[in-house]
Amino acid sequence: MIQSNKVISFTLAYRDKIGILSIYFPIYHNRYREIFMEKCIQIGLFGLGTVGKDLVNLLSNIQNPITENTGVPVKISKVVVANHKKNRGIDTSNFQIGTNPKLILDDNELDVVVELTGDKTFADSMITFCLNKGTPVVTANKALLAEKLRCLMQIARTTKTPFGFEASVGSGVPFLRFLRDGLSAERISEITGVLNSSTNLILDLMKEHKYDYSQALEVAKRKGYTESDPRLDVNGDDTAHKLCIVSGLSFNQEIPLDLLPIQGISGLSYRDLEVAEESGFGVKLIGHARINTSNLSAWVGPAFVPASHPLAAVSGIDNGLVITGRYTGRSFVQGKGAGSYNAALGVINDIIQIIQSRIQETGNFRYESRNPESSQKKTCFHPGGDNIEYVVRLENMVLIDEKTFLKKIFHEHHVNIAGLLNDFQKEASSGKTVYLKTEPCTWQQICSALNQLQFKTDNRIRVKVFRAL
Ligand code: HSE
Repeated sequence: MIQSNKVISFTLAYRDKIGILSIYFPIYHNRYREIFMEKCIQIGLFGLGTVGKDLVNLLSNIQNPITENTGVPVKISKVVVANHKKNRGIDTSNFQIGTNPKLILDDNELDVVVELTGDKTFADSMITFCLNKGTPVVTANKALLAEKLRCLMQIARTTKTPFGFEASVGSGVPFLRFLRDGLSAERISEITGVLNSSTNLILDLMKEHKYDYSQALEVAKRKGYTESDPRLDVNGDDTAHKLCIVSGLSFNQEIPLDLLPIQGISGLSYRDLEVAEESGFGVKLIGHARINTSNLSAWVGPAFVPASHPLAAVSGIDNGLVITGRYTGRSFVQGKGAGSYNAALGVINDIIQIIQSRIQETGNFRYESRNPESSQKKTCFHPGGDNIEYVVRLENMVLIDEKTFLKKIFHEHHVNIAGLLNDFQKEASSGKTVYLKTEPCTWQQICSALNQLQFKTDNRIRVKVFRAL
C-alpha cells in the first residue's frame, strides 16, 4: 500500500525513561518521494471487457501513460473476471487472473483497485469494501454512481481514500475534472448536456444518410459505442445516469433517479429531424438539470436545440456539457464521449491523479467540487422542470378545423400555441402531420393537454413531445 503519513516517529531514551516522539519533519518528504518512486504501482482490476482490455494494453508497455506522467512504474498484477476460461484475445500471462474477488480484496499490496465490471450490485460491494479498507478505487460504473455517488464519496471522505470516476461521464474527456477542479468555487445553477454518444451518432446518421432508426442503431452497435444492452442508450437511461453524476457534483444534491422523467429517441423519425433543420434547430438527446434556492428540476429527452446553441454543433460520438455558473456564466466542454480506448484513458487520468497526490504528499485527491457541509440547503425535486417551450408532433390530423379544436383544448390547459413549424397545407397524405411550437408552459400542462386531445379523438391523433432549448 502507498503510505502518505508525514509524521515520523522516533523512540527516545532519556534519563531511563523511554518515550515516543512524533514530529512533523518535512525534510523527509523527498526521501519518501524517492522510496515511492522506486516502487512499482500495483493495480487490481475487476472486469476484462472492452475497456478493461484497452486498459491492460495501454499499461503493458514499460513507457505507458502513467509512467510517462509520474515517473513511477506500474503494473496490473491481479484481474478478477466472471468467466476466466473465456478467450479475450489478449495476453493474460502477466497477471494473476481468477474469478474469486478475494484475489483482489485480500491483497494488501495493491495500490489502486479499478472496477470495470458494469455490474451494479457486485461493483457496489467491491468498491465499498476497498474504500473502507483504504485502498484507492477508480470506476466507470455509471449506473451505480447515479444512485450511490454521494454515499460512496462519503465513505471515501471518511476513510480519506481517493475515489475516481472520471470515465463515467464523457469517457476520457475531463467533464468531471472541469467541474470539480475548474469550477470548484462557483455556484452552478444549470447543466445541460449531450451525454450519450451512440444516440448522438444515431441521430446524425438518420439525418445525414436518411438511415432509419434501426439501421443507425446497428452502426452504433457495430462500432462498439452502445452499452452491452443498447436499450440503456436509446431509452435515455445512460444519459440519465450521467446527468445524476454531473448533477451530484454540481449541486451537491442527488436527483432521485426514480422520479426523473426520461424519454429516449426510439420514436423519432427522419421527418422530425428534417422539420427541425428547416426551422433552425437540431434534435439532440439532452440531459438537463437546474437548481435555485428552493427547487431542483431535471429531465432527459429529445429536444429541439437552436442552431446557435453550443450543443447543436455536438455531432457524431462527441458529448458536450454546458455549465451555467452564477459568476462565470456559460462554460462549455466538448469531446469524444465513447470508445473503449477513451474510457481507459479516463481511468488512467484518475490513476495518475492518485499517484501524483501521493507523490506530492498533498493527500489532495479531490472528491467533489464543494464541501458538502457548506452547500446550499436541500431543495425540493420537481421532475420535468420549469416553464419552457415545447415542440409537438401531431399525426393523423384529418380536418383543418382540428386546429381550432386543438387550440381550445390547449387553452383549457393553459398552453398557448406560438406557431406551426411546417406547412400543414402542403403535407401530402390525408392523415396530415403538424409540428407546432408552444409558448413556455410546464411539462404537466403540456402532457394533460395532449392526453385530453387523444382522449377526445379516440387516440386517432398520435403525439410526440420535444422540449425546446
Ligand atoms: N454507451 C455509452 C454512450 C458509452 O454511447 O455514450 C460511453 O459511456
